[in-house]
Amino acid sequence: MEIKITEAIKSRRSVREFTADLIAEADLLKIIEAGRWAPSGLNNQPWKVVVVKNREIIAGLAGCTKYWRVISGCRVCLAVYYDESKGYNETKDILAVGAFIQNMLLTVQELGLGACWLGEILNQENAVNNLLSVPDAYRLMAVIALGNPTAKQRSSTRRPINEIIYKTID
Ligand SMILES: Cc1cc2nc3c(=O)[nH]c(=O)nc-3n(C[C@H](O)[C@H](O)[C@H](O)COP(=O)(O)O)c2cc1C
Repeated sequence: MEIKITEAIKSRRSVREFTADLIAEADLLKIIEAGRWAPSGLNNQPWKVVVVKNREIIAGLAGCTKYWRVISGCRVCLAVYYDESKGYNETKDILAVGAFIQNMLLTVQELGLGACWLGEILNQENAVNNLLSVPDAYRLMAVIALGNPTAKQRSSTRRPINEIIYKTID
């Protein structure tokens, strides 16, 4: 399936319900590869990912968020970290990790898979880090729940563009 970038951006929806189908390893690598090409300040690439396929660990992650259903139903979790040992400016580094995540979400969309960016789980960062045994320099930025989307109509809204443009200076 060929989809244009703007179309992919606009049609991507958070997917919170997944089928039992597995995710092919090749697709998983394509998703992370898309993240790899995200921009970053000084090209410092301050991101790191823990790929979680183990059902027990996924269940443990589900126990760390009130959105546990999303995690319980997914096939793979990507725990996305900001690796401070590679950082040079906190704001810029964290924005770069956001670009890394969005690149991955768009490739998920291109592959016909589904994902949800989970942020509420950051409230349990220590529990997640203990579960995944990551170094102290890693700061949890998000967990991405991944899987094959169930057939369901998903919609979302955005504020109109005139509320976004504060002003135009000609
Ligand atoms: C920083 C961030 C944190 C989010 N955290 C959660 C979350 O904890 N649980 C959840 O179900 N969705 C979460 N989402 C998904 C948003 O709810 C979703 O992107 C938003 O409602 C727009 O819907 P759409 O992604 O379908 O366009 C998060 C998204 C972002 C960018």
